[in-house]
Amino acid sequence: MRILILGSGAREHAIAWKLSKEIGNENVFIAPGNGGTHACGTNVDFTFKDREALKAFCVAEKIDTVIPGSEEAIDAGIRNFIEEDSALTDVLVVSPDQHAGQLESSKAFAKEFMAKEHIPTAAYQSFTKDTLDEAYAFLDTLKAPYVLKADGLAAGKGVLILEDLQEAKDELKHMMVDQKFGAASSTVVIEEFLDGIEFSVFAVTDGTNYVILPEAKDYKRIGEGDTGLNTGGMGAISPVPFFTDEVKKKTIEQIVEPTIRGLSNQNLNYQGFVFFGLILVNGDPKVIEYNVRMGDPETEVVIPRLDESLSDMFADIRNKTLKTRIAKAKSGFATTVFAVSGGYPLAYDKGIAISVDQPSETLFHAGTKLVDSQLQTSGGRVIAATCFGDSMPDALAKSYDTINAVHFDKKYYRTDIGKDLEQYI
Ligand code: AMP
Ligand code: GLY
Repeated sequence: MRILILGSGAREHAIAWKLSKEIGNENVFIAPGNGGTHACGTNVDFTFKDREALKAFCVAEKIDTVIPGSEEAIDAGIRNFIEEDSALTDVLVVSPDQHAGQLESSKAFAKEFMAKEHIPTAAYQSFTKDTLDEAYAFLDTLKAPYVLKADGLAAGKGVLILEDLQEAKDELKHMMVDQKFGAASSTVVIEEFLDGIEFSVFAVTDGTNYVILPEAKDYKRIGEGDTGLNTGGMGAISPVPFFTDEVKKKTIEQIVEPTIRGLSNQNLNYQGFVFFGLILVNGDPKVIEYNVRMGDPETEVVIPRLDESLSDMFADIRNKTLKTRIAKAKSGFATTVFAVSGGYPLAYDKGIAISVDQPSETLFHAGTKLVDSQLQTSGGRVIAATCFGDSMPDALAKSYDTINAVHFDKKYYRTDIGKDLEQYI
C-alpha cells in the first residue's frame, strides 16, 4: 500500500504516525505535511488545491490510497477529481464525494438527511433572505438561547448562540442579508438549543458496513473552564467516561446504524471516516453535526488508542470486505494537550524557534516547520502532546510534562483539560 495524506495538521501527523508503523515510512507521503510529519514519511510540497501536482505525484509514486484530512479538500471534490481521471482509476480515496460531503458542508443537507432517517437531533428550520420574515416568526416561537447556523463551511465559526431575541434577529439578518459568513450564511439553519454534554464518536465505513473507532471529547475554547473564543481545539480525551455501555448502545442503535443505512437509502457515495458530533441530553444522545473526516484534536487520541490496523480497514473498503464491528482499543486513557501561539485565535507571531527537551513519537505537530533544520512555529495551534496512562489523571500528568518540555516564546496551553470529566471517573 502507498498512501498519500492531504493536510498539514496534528490530525494528519497522527494518521501518518499510525500508518507508518503499519506499512513503513517509505510508503507514507504527506502533502504538504509539517515540521514533524517527516518522521513518519515523506513531506511533499503541494496542497490538495494543486490538482496537476497531485495527479503527477500519484502516478509517479504509484499511490494507491489518498486520505483527504480536511473538509475543504473533500468539499473541493478531491474524490470526484481522482475517480474521474483515467490515470488514477486504481486510487482509493478515503472520503465521500462532494455531494455526500454535504453532510458536513451544508447544515441544511445534514438536517434533511437526519429527518428522513429519523435520527435524533435538534428541531430546526432553514431560511434564506427571501424568507426572513418567516425566520423571525420562527424565532418568536422558540425559547432562548437561540441557535443560528450558517449553512455552509465557515471554519467552525458559523454557529451563533444568543440569549436575546432581538439580538438573534439582528444577527440573523446580518448573516443572510449582509453575508456575515460570506456565501456560507446565505442559508441559515435555526435550531432548538440542546442542553447537555458533548462528545464525538468516529467510524470507518465502506458505505454499508462500519467499524466504530474509540470515542473522544475535545476542548474547543481558548480559555480555562471552556470560556473565550472558539479554537481549532485545545485538547482531547479518550475514552469518554460518561460514554457508558448504555449510552453506547443507544448511540449505535439510534444514530450510527440509521446513519450508515441512510447513506445507501439516499444514494450517497460515501466511504471513509464518519465523525458524529453528539450531545448527551438527559441520557439520550443526539446529533449536533456530522463531519466527513476525522476530528482535530480528537484524532490525536483516537488513532493512538486504536488497537487495529487502519491500513487493513482501507484495504477492506477497497475489497468490500469491511466487517461491521467495534474496533479494538487500547485500555487506559489517551490525552492530548495543545500548545498554541500567544494571541491565538486572534493575531499571533510566526517563525518563533521551538525546542523540545523530551522528544516523543506522539508529540503531534501542527503549526510547525523546519527551516534549515531549526523547528519554528508556522501557525496558531503549534504542537499536541499525546500520552497514555492507566487513568485519565495519569495520562494528563504525562501530557502536561511533555508540553512543559516544549519551549517557544509566548507558548500558551489550557491547564484544565479533562477537569470536567473528573466527576465521571
Ligand atoms: P456545529 O458547528 O454544528 O458543531 O456547532 C458548533 C458548536 O455549537 C457545537 O459544538 C455546540 O457546542 C454548539 N451547538 C451547535 N448546535 C447546538 C444546539 N442545537 N444546541 C446547543 N449547542 C449547539
Ligand atoms: N474537533 C472538531 C473538528 O475537528 O471539527
